[in-house]
Amino acid sequence: MRPIFVFDAYGTLFDVHAAIDRHRDTAGPDADRFSAIWRAKQLEYTWTLTLAGYYVSFWTLTERALDFAFSAVPAVDRALRAPLLAAYFALDAFPDARQMLQELKARGHPTAILSNGTPTMLAAAVEGANLGVLLDAVLSVDVLRAYKPRPEVYELVTARFSCVPGDVMFVSSNRWDVMGAASFGFRTVWVNRTDLPDEYPDSAPGVVMPDLNGLAGLA
Ligand code: LAC
Repeated sequence: MRPIFVFDAYGTLFDVHAAIDRHRDTAGPDADRFSAIWRAKQLEYTWTLTLAGYYVSFWTLTERALDFAFSAVPAVDRALRAPLLAAYFALDAFPDARQMLQELKARGHPTAILSNGTPTMLAAAVEGANLGVLLDAVLSVDVLRAYKPRPEVYELVTARFSCVPGDVMFVSSNRWDVMGAASFGFRTVWVNRTDLPDEYPDSAPGVVMPDLNGLAGLA
């Protein structure tokens, strides 16, 4: 069986900093710090809520994290709230995403997204980047009301494709997501786009790549 390639969405196929990039001039010199806080808080909320045993949608957490970033970095004008949320709702795909998915489809691999994003957010991003025809499934944690890296989330893939974890090549730029996927038994690729140091030594990635180029040649 050809490996099923499953992708994390935010940070891996879609650029979470594309929203601030569209409004960089208005945001000013603290733009990058602001965007990093927004992303870090968004993820922190997914982990803390899942540990506490309750669920709030990823869109609402994205809004709450953005509001925290405005409070933490008051130099960024709150008038950007609506434009930044609109940009986040239909984030740009990384330039290497579409061609890589085309190559995987040409080689006959099943492909999917597995994401914390709500089905509505994921549909908007996939449609905006015109990736829909290149994906066999777009799976959201929303059906489970719990976030990555809970093992039940990764199980959505094996249930959808009626496969075992070893049939799946899971691709993420989020090292903690690679940890969750590897613990579940997926083969993993860490897309280390920003040259971060490695971590989680008990759950090493199978392959490390700087971007998505050449991914189709792995299998
Ligand atoms: C996702 C987050 C983790 O797409 O980036 O699931």
